[in-house]
Amino acid sequence: MISGRGSNLVAIAENVNNGILQGECIIQAVFSNKRNAAGLQKAEQFGIPTHVISKTGNYNFHLLDWLRSKNPDLIILAGYMKILPAEIVRAFPQKIINIHPADTKEHQGLNGYKWAWEKKLAETKITVHFVDEGLDSGKIIGQRVVDLRGAESLAEIEKRGLQVEHEFYSECIKMILERID
Ligand code: GRF
Repeated sequence: MISGRGSNLVAIAENVNNGILQGECIIQAVFSNKRNAAGLQKAEQFGIPTHVISKTGNYNFHLLDWLRSKNPDLIILAGYMKILPAEIVRAFPQKIINIHPADTKEHQGLNGYKWAWEKKLAETKITVHFVDEGLDSGKIIGQRVVDLRGAESLAEIEKRGLQVEHEFYSECIKMILERID
């Protein structure tokens, strides 16, 4: 599930095609709440079916219906910028995961890299966690440190962080899928 750029989606799709997720899973579909999300075109380039619900009325009702129709083993949030309501979270217990660009114990919500930059942190922690009904409050699956020493701009911090995100998310997905088998 995405809302924007989709660089994590691309990293995961590449790993499914010829990386650590090869033979481990298929990406059934990519969902976006934004019709113009750049990640949708990227999904199409990988031949992955896409689905968009952009209207606001009954949004979550239609989303839950669509998610159920897919019967997924795992729902992967990758830059999905909306909060999932309780009825969706409860419909897929321990099956929805998210990647957060900071330590969820220290910083929740938007702008995780900006937070690290403004706090002048020497390191930050990318967090992969289960999604619960709160904001970035679900059980932590794993964390990976990003060394921020010497970074001279927010852009540099984002670059280093995303590099870690792109490897770490697929590793966590692999680990979770092995547990499901
Ligand atoms: C990533 O930094 C991720 O940690 C956060 O949103 C961003 C999504 O980037 N949840 P992208 O769309 O995967 O490029």
